[in-house]
Amino acid sequence: MEKIESMNTELLEAVSIPVKKYHIKTWGCAMNEYDSQRIGEMLQSLNYESTSNLSEADLVILNTCHIREKATEKVYSDIGRLKILKDRRRSIGQNLIIGVSGCVAQAEGDEIIKRAPSVDLVFGPQTWHKLGEMLEQLQSSKVCNTDFPVEEKFDNLPKIFDKKRIQNGSAFVAIQEGCDKFCTYCVVPYTRGSEYSRPVWQVLEEVSKLVQEGAVEITLLGQNVNNYPGLGHDNTSWSLGKLIRRLAELKGLQRIRYTTSYPAEVDDDLISAHRDVEKLIPFLHLPIQSGSNRILKAMNRNHTVEFYLDLIARLRSANPKLAFSSDFIVGFPGETEEDFQDSLKVIDAVGLIQSYSFSYSARPGTPAALMPNQVPEDIKHERLLRLQQHLKTHQQRFNDSCIGMEFTVLLEREGKIAGQLVGKSPYMQAVRVDNPQGHMLGDTVKVKVLQSHPNSLTAVVV
Ligand code: SAH
Ligand code: SF4
Ligand code: F3S
Repeated sequence: MEKIESMNTELLEAVSIPVKKYHIKTWGCAMNEYDSQRIGEMLQSLNYESTSNLSEADLVILNTCHIREKATEKVYSDIGRLKILKDRRRSIGQNLIIGVSGCVAQAEGDEIIKRAPSVDLVFGPQTWHKLGEMLEQLQSSKVCNTDFPVEEKFDNLPKIFDKKRIQNGSAFVAIQEGCDKFCTYCVVPYTRGSEYSRPVWQVLEEVSKLVQEGAVEITLLGQNVNNYPGLGHDNTSWSLGKLIRRLAELKGLQRIRYTTSYPAEVDDDLISAHRDVEKLIPFLHLPIQSGSNRILKAMNRNHTVEFYLDLIARLRSANPKLAFSSDFIVGFPGETEEDFQDSLKVIDAVGLIQSYSFSYSARPGTPAALMPNQVPEDIKHERLLRLQQHLKTHQQRFNDSCIGMEFTVLLEREGKIAGQLVGKSPYMQAVRVDNPQGHMLGDTVKVKVLQSHPNSLTAVVV
């Protein structure tokens, strides 16, 4: 009886609280994307509903990235636009809460509110589980929470599960967060805090739930995902390789990916997982940043070019089908034309099939920002274009080599031509499937590649 009464009160309360709407805009890496999804679930558990329409949102959260200067500046121009919306609302007696989260929030804290007083709420990547408290505090004052709390957010996750976390059969799961590497150019160790790995049971529970809800591909995330010493059920520390082997046992899960890896910490267990685990895709993102040992040392990357190439060789001997992508920074302080040429040579030596490349951006508080011999913007720009052209040539070469190959494609979206579906190959290439024969988005189908293009492949179902 008591139970029924309390249920009724809860129902009445639920009915009487008007549903508010939230809108989240996300910049940056996959980890930030994952955070946005979980912030969304947190808000849903607080009686908010998601909206893609900014003009009907009661709460807008800008989940920000601090990695390069450009990304940071974009946030302030967005806040400027939201201020206009907020002022308009105010003039008709309504409110719009503006929140800034993520890595800019962590780096700049309440400076954001000083520079942009229309912002009500600032919180870092480690405090979004406290959104309930923060929204309550907002009733009386602005809120800035950039702590690194003792209790882990992963132990205080929302109970609500948002099916939208699975996009066309694919979902992210953070297993490791933070970074202790302190590469001299990078803000991540300051914005995300020190390395933390989630226990195995938590990862298993989350992946199982996603698979049960229809995910067939899981990407395990971490700033240094291969340095995963998660606590296992057996009270021992599990490596990423061991975790992958366990996840591969889950029925329904077809593809496992992980990103981003730190080359100096790839261990033999992970290498052998690439040999043994069929569900682990034969594609690995392994950032090197530069092909010059002198620059790698100044970057504090903890390995040489020779080590990197040997690692690639060991991975390839474990699984000859493996292909690689990387990250490059051009114009790091002191980089000469010769150092830059060495980066082009790494692309050739590995035969990288894709890569991200960036012009070095001096970040406040990082050692590299104070190094002498900063490279002028025009030189950085020119090197970036050359590197990207070089990468493109390799990408086209790899795409050409796929003609005639058969592989499994996960169908993700509709193509431009009626009836065509576009999927993702095991090498993360976009594959246009012309005649999907009754297959639907989210299905995996075996296809044969007929044609290659600079950024995609065309294939038919076999
Ligand atoms: N943890 C990952 C990547 C983190 S950031 C790793 O260690 O590889 C993603 C990429 O942004 C980096 O790999 C690097 O290529 C680039 N990056 C980081 N800081 C940068 C800076 N100050 N300027 C330009 N690019 C940067
Ligand atoms: Fe940044 Fe280096 Fe850590 Fe990657 S390993 S997040 S580049 S400090
Ligand atoms: Fe950016 Fe933070 Fe990710 S700085 S790249 S959002 S860890």
